[in-house]
Amino acid sequence: MILYGNSALCANGELCIGGWRASDLKEQFGTPLYVYDEDYIRTSIQSYHNAFAATGVDYALAYACKAFCTVAMCQLAREENAWLDVVSGGELHTALQAGVDPAFVYMHGNNKSPDELLYAIKAGIGMVVIDNFYEIELLAELLEQENATMDVLLRVSPGVDVHTHEFIATGRQDSKFGFDLYSGHVDLAIDRLAAFPRIQLLGVHSHIGSQIFDADGFRVAASRLASLAAHLGRRYGVWFRILNLGGGMGVRYTSDDSPIPVNRLVEGIVQAAAASFQEYGIPLPKLMMEPGRSIVAQAGTTLYTVGSRKEMPGVRTYVAVDGGMTDNPRLALYGAKYEACIANRANDPDVETVSIAGKCCESGDMLIWDVSLPKPVPGDILAVSCTGAYNYSMASNYNRVAKPAVVFVRGSEARLVVERETAADVCRLDRSLSGLTFTSRG
Ligand code: LLP
Repeated sequence: MILYGNSALCANGELCIGGWRASDLKEQFGTPLYVYDEDYIRTSIQSYHNAFAATGVDYALAYACKAFCTVAMCQLAREENAWLDVVSGGELHTALQAGVDPAFVYMHGNNKSPDELLYAIKAGIGMVVIDNFYEIELLAELLEQENATMDVLLRVSPGVDVHTHEFIATGRQDSKFGFDLYSGHVDLAIDRLAAFPRIQLLGVHSHIGSQIFDADGFRVAASRLASLAAHLGRRYGVWFRILNLGGGMGVRYTSDDSPIPVNRLVEGIVQAAAASFQEYGIPLPKLMMEPGRSIVAQAGTTLYTVGSRKEMPGVRTYVAVDGGMTDNPRLALYGAKYEACIANRANDPDVETVSIAGKCCESGDMLIWDVSLPKPVPGDILAVSCTGAYNYSMASNYNRVAKPAVVFVRGSEARLVVERETAADVCRLDRSLSGLTFTSRG
């Protein structure tokens, strides 16, 4: 298993995260448990700041909350000087609960509801990323009603088809997100925005996909957006102040993944953007990026307790743990691959290949197909690495399984930042058969 950040093997051969042994984490907090290496998250954010600062351009960094959104994470991201990109009323609420300055929050979404937009306006968030024509009218109406104004970016779909899993490719032409660059929709949107003085257009946004390993797709997007900027500048005299190139930077889930380092990626993107804008003879706007996965994925490890085993000689051996697709649906959804170790004896030699199953009543509830391990026995702690992004945030209560706790480890301190759900929590909103009855108007 790849050891990231402050994960290491301690003297007794156990996996340690920061100053904590896996067995102590299990004893203190139980399993399944999401464990985050807090300093590693901070370092990941700082590596983007350092990379941008080294290029000398005007920039702002945002953290895409969808990757892992909790109160503590929002606080941490703001402490590290990242804006927060939220995509729902729920994420906005989490950011506000975190006590962050709403001026550094902006909202995405291809179908923001009137309530969500109203919440955003009332909270005084920094920007809205407008996704479609309906939203222009809706936002304008709500701003009028609230006697407020809003800065916006226009989300453009630049038609870049990055090499990634189909479900997480969002920037190519056939996409539900943003204004299509090639059908004149961007011009129409700007025409429409001009009718609403309460909406101030600051620039454009594009997001070309996720788990991207190099700068090539971003280069293409930057050049298409520079051409758009030149066109809009000529036609409307509107010059972008912000160019947001989205998120999507890849991480190393397994030894087979090789994303380029953040400094090279950022350097490549900045150079390409600067060159494209120069080509059109227009000033480079402030650059923004909004990584999610690459901030949190490698900082997260999930700890499970090993339970049952099913052995079919010549076919496969299944080893089941006390979690599964409820805390990590990514194999079921995307065929995602992970690495693992037996954390309480991580130095023991691998002796067999097994497949790690979850505990849900569904054959697709698997965490890893074919992983080499020391023979797992009941009570062992299985650690799955690189689970910090889109695991907690996509967790479910399928089979009424309660969600795990989340712990941030920093040196010898471990802070419980999300408590473990209980069966009572899962049932909290249920009402009995006789409860809460409404009768139709007929
Ligand atoms: N900005 C926008 C507009 C996005 O749609 C996304 C991700 C991001 C930023 C952050 O992308 P990141 O840096 O995290 O790759 N559930 C999937 C990932 C879906 C990503 C959706 N959008 C997964 O588990 O892989």
